[in-house]
Amino acid sequence: MAPMKLERMLSMKGGKDESSYVNNSQAQAQHARSMLHLLTETLDGVRLSSPPEYSPANFVVADLGCSCGSNTIHMVDVIIKHMTKRYEAAGFDSPPEFSAFFSDLPSNDFNTLFQLLPPYGGSSMEECLASDSHRSYFVAGVPGSFYRRLFPAKSVDVFYSAFSLHWLSQVPEVVLDKRSTAYNKGKIFIHGANESAAIAYKKQFQSDLAGFLRSRSNEMKPGGSMFLVCLGRTCVDPTDQGGAGLLFGTHFQDAWDDLVQEGLITSEKRDNFNIPVYAPSLEDFKEVVEADGSFAINKLEVFKGGSPLVVNHPEDAAEIGRALANSCRSVSGVLVDAHIGEDLSDELFSRVASRATSQAKELLDQLQFFHIVASLSLSY
Ligand SMILES: C[S@@+](CC[C@H](N)C(=O)[O-])C[C@H]1O[C@@H](n2cnc3c(N)ncnc32)[C@H](O)[C@@H]1O
Repeated sequence: MAPMKLERMLSMKGGKDESSYVNNSQAQAQHARSMLHLLTETLDGVRLSSPPEYSPANFVVADLGCSCGSNTIHMVDVIIKHMTKRYEAAGFDSPPEFSAFFSDLPSNDFNTLFQLLPPYGGSSMEECLASDSHRSYFVAGVPGSFYRRLFPAKSVDVFYSAFSLHWLSQVPEVVLDKRSTAYNKGKIFIHGANESAAIAYKKQFQSDLAGFLRSRSNEMKPGGSMFLVCLGRTCVDPTDQGGAGLLFGTHFQDAWDDLVQEGLITSEKRDNFNIPVYAPSLEDFKEVVEADGSFAINKLEVFKGGSPLVVNHPEDAAEIGRALANSCRSVSGVLVDAHIGEDLSDELFSRVASRATSQAKELLDQLQFFHIVASLSLSY
């Protein structure tokens, strides 16, 4: 899928139904919570700026790939509260005014997101900061791809991006080209694919990440920092995509094969669909940061995230099956609907659920996500 087309279409599932992102992002919330100490370490390195004479200081936070759930609101709140404490501890008379930019692709369900925001509270910044049911920052939505420029030069103090950078700007063209050795025949993801397909995905990831870093190096204020988390893998071989491989490369793959075998879609239709996700290794990520050269690495590590499945009754196989199907649909459903239509998409995900139900115990034991966590600040 060409970059502009994917950019216009990709989003997590909006609204508030059973398979929406709002209702299927508790795992991301848990994983983000487990990394809070790394985030606060990053925030402790951000330079506090004094107000210029003509106006109060403005401290700017941007969440890139914010999606439409409450995780982004929670994390922005954590960041602003932490920075406020630092300003207070440093003896500033009054904290700066805070702005938060929620950024995602244009088809993100910004309406749902904005409805989740607590109201801006109090007539003074001190009053808002003292109140839990109000927010203490100004808000704006920024639609656009984070692989390009989104903000004015030197305007953002803290960039935060969680569980988003593994989404590629496009499926590499060669992977969908029958004449190419990288043609990903029979597969809808690179887990277990041929080496050339995997190399094409890796190249795409690295050129996308290079665009991301180039843009942020222009937009970050001197003294600012960036905290990035994306899906990662522990294996050197990119055809073993780890947790992402289990999510997209097993029951989801088998369900596509079911539709082909049952004559509901052609094999060509399946082969024209590929998930634009790449879980990098630490080395894949590091090579790009070092080649770009604009950022110093404060921290770069692989962090064990846990399972993407959050269930109330771990002994209930059907609940686990549904959780896997919903989790998969909340992130890829929009692309699947666009490719085969909603009715066939219903068929596909009900097969994902029943296949996952029959392997529920193995899924609970084996499905683990690892994340790449990076804390970066400008190197000049
Ligand atoms: C799994 S969600 C992460 C949501 C949120 N950060 C959280 O912690 O729950 C991934 C988000 O990345 C966004 N995304 C993917 N590619 C993007 C791009 N090129 N530019 C901006 N956002 C992108 C998707 O639209 C999606 O909302």
